[in-house]
Amino acid sequence: MELIDGKATATAIKAEIADKVAQKVAAGERRPHLAAILVGHDGGSETYVRNKIKACEECGFQSTLVRFESDVDEATLLAAIDELNKNPEIDGFIVQLPLPKHIDEQKITEAVHPDKDVDGFHPVNVGRQSIGLPCFASATPAGIVELLKRYGISTRGKNVVIVGRSNIVGKPLASMLMQKGEQGDATVTVCHSATKNLCDVTRNADILVAAMGRPGFITADMVAPGAVVIDVGTTRVPDASRKSGFRLSGDVDFASVSEKCSYITPVPGGVGPMTICMLMQNTLLAYERRGGIGA
Ligand code: GUN
Repeated sequence: MELIDGKATATAIKAEIADKVAQKVAAGERRPHLAAILVGHDGGSETYVRNKIKACEECGFQSTLVRFESDVDEATLLAAIDELNKNPEIDGFIVQLPLPKHIDEQKITEAVHPDKDVDGFHPVNVGRQSIGLPCFASATPAGIVELLKRYGISTRGKNVVIVGRSNIVGKPLASMLMQKGEQGDATVTVCHSATKNLCDVTRNADILVAAMGRPGFITADMVAPGAVVIDVGTTRVPDASRKSGFRLSGDVDFASVSEKCSYITPVPGGVGPMTICMLMQNTLLAYERRGGIGA
C-alpha cells in the first residue's frame, strides 16, 4: 500500500503558485486577494478559515477576513457579499459553510458573483463545470482529481464508486470524472443512503471515494484488493487523550482498509490540504482573468 500524501502535494503546489505570484510582483503587478466571510465561532469553520488565510500567506496572496456573530441577519450578510462583489481589490471570496439555520445557504451561495466564486459553488460554475466549460471548479473534487493525476493514477475506463451525493463533493466529483479526457473517462457510480447492497457496489470499485461524513464506515470487507481509496471524511470525534479533546476521523477504517488497498489517503493529511490548495489555484485564476495589474 502507498500513502497518498495530500499535505506534501499541497505544499508543492502552493510553492508553484508562490513562484508565479513572486514573478508577477517582481514585474510590478499587485498580489491576488482572497476574502473570506466567517459567521459565528464553529470550531471546524474557524480552523478551515485560519488554514485558508495561512495558505494565502504561503502563496503570497493578500487576504481579508470578514466576521459576523452567529445572530447576523440575512440582509446584513447579503449586503457584505454585495460589497465584496463590487470591490475591485478583491479577486475572489468565499462564505464559509455551514451557516446558522436562520440563513438561507442557497440564497447566500447564489449571491456571490460567479466571477468571484472561487469555491465553485454558484449554479453558474456548477453548470459550466458539468458541460466542460471554463469555470471555477469545486475545490474538494478538483483536489482529488489533482491528487490522482500527481500520483499517476489513471481514471480512464476505471470503475469509480463515490459514496455520498453532496453538492460540494459527490455530485461535482462524479461530473468531473465522467468528462472526456485524461483526468476523466471513468465509469462512475454514486451511492447514497438508499443504495441497495452497498458492499456489492463498493467491492466493484477500482477507485473508491468515501464522502458521506460517517467515521470509519468503509471497512476492509467493502473494498476490492488493490483498490485506490480516497477518504474525504473529516469528522471531529471526542478523544480525551488529545489536548483539543477531539481527533479528526475519516469515513474509512484506515487500519483494516490500508492492509488491502493499493493507495489510500490519510485523515488528516490527505484530501483536506488539497481542498485549500485548489482554492488558492482558483483565486490565482480569478486574478489572472481580471488582468492582474491593479485591475
Ligand atoms: N465548508 C466545508 N467545506 C467548505 C468549502 O470548501 N468551502 C466553504 N466555503 N465552506 C466549506
